[in-house]
Amino acid sequence: MSTPAATHPGISAGGRDHRRLFATEDIACRLRKALDSWDADNHGPTSSLTGRGAIAEFEAEVAKYVPGRHVVAVSSGSAALRICLEIAGVGPNTEVICAAYDWPAAIAAVKSLGAQPVFAAVNEETFTIDPADVMAKVTPRTRVVVATHVFGIPADAVRIRNLLEPLGIVLIEDCAQAFGARLDRRPVGSIGQLAAFSFGPGKTIDAGEGGAVAVENAADFLAVLRASQHPLRQLLHGIHPQTMDGFQQRLHPAAAILGLVELRSVDDRLCGARRMAVELIAALLDRRGRLVGVDVRREPSWYRLPVVLADTDIEVPGVTFADPGAQILAEHALSQAVRSSLKRLRAAVVQRRP
Ligand SMILES: Cc1ncc(COP(=O)(O)O)c(C=O)c1O
Repeated sequence: MSTPAATHPGISAGGRDHRRLFATEDIACRLRKALDSWDADNHGPTSSLTGRGAIAEFEAEVAKYVPGRHVVAVSSGSAALRICLEIAGVGPNTEVICAAYDWPAAIAAVKSLGAQPVFAAVNEETFTIDPADVMAKVTPRTRVVVATHVFGIPADAVRIRNLLEPLGIVLIEDCAQAFGARLDRRPVGSIGQLAAFSFGPGKTIDAGEGGAVAVENAADFLAVLRASQHPLRQLLHGIHPQTMDGFQQRLHPAAAILGLVELRSVDDRLCGARRMAVELIAALLDRRGRLVGVDVRREPSWYRLPVVLADTDIEVPGVTFADPGAQILAEHALSQAVRSSLKRLRAAVVQRRP
């Protein structure tokens, strides 16, 4: 009999990620179990309506990485960011401070709510939003600051929250690239009042598509349910939906199952990435160029290992460094090369498992 690994194109054993090889059986098993317990009312483990079954299990496992937070699984990292902004009161005539160097999801979410993104500079040592420039950009319209942990490198979230709290401005952590990263031993996602995670393709927890919101208090937890989940799940938490104006942004239960299987190997993979990063950093230190995000307070998840070229001597075929855009391209190329080394290690670590 052929194994699902050989027949299922979405979880094929080939391609870039050998984790799939041993995980496929686990995924098939969990999916079968979920399907076997399907019930006619469609409220069983294959349904996302109540948030029970695989969804609840996935949320509980993710919550172990964000201590002290309530976690709600949603359809994507972008949805998670938009929900955070919405429940923080972002809308027309408000401003949100975002990093000038970032993946554009936060900016798109801000604009979709009719609010104004305002850009703050990034710190050259970490590529993450600079607390001093954040404060320089605050106006009476500022509702939220989004601190993205770019490349898995923790932003100065503790400092930013301490500066913002007296002003009544909310800190949202964008942890899409940083699952498992820590700042001063505190896991990312557990520092701001609100945090968004992505479980999309290529992320540390790759569920195909998916996301999660992590919140600090019970009122925000209920607000997230109201904004994103089915009325049945809301009722289970004592919410009596009156306006029904929440938008359907639930995680697919099959994605929760994929995510659960990813979570089983995540500690090994983070450990492997960190070991490899130490080797690469040691190897790169004696070259011209500058490493980013390397300091004693930060334990990045190394979604990427960025390197800033110090001069134009490093040859990258087809790139002329007289052009500043080309310099950026070269930095990207180098960081991609390092990332594929990390991936190879990730695969090697997982293959050693029984
Ligand atoms: C920093 C950051 N934020 C948000 C997102 C959006 O996540 P998703 O693709 O799940 O919507 C991404 C995706 O790459 C990201 O890198």
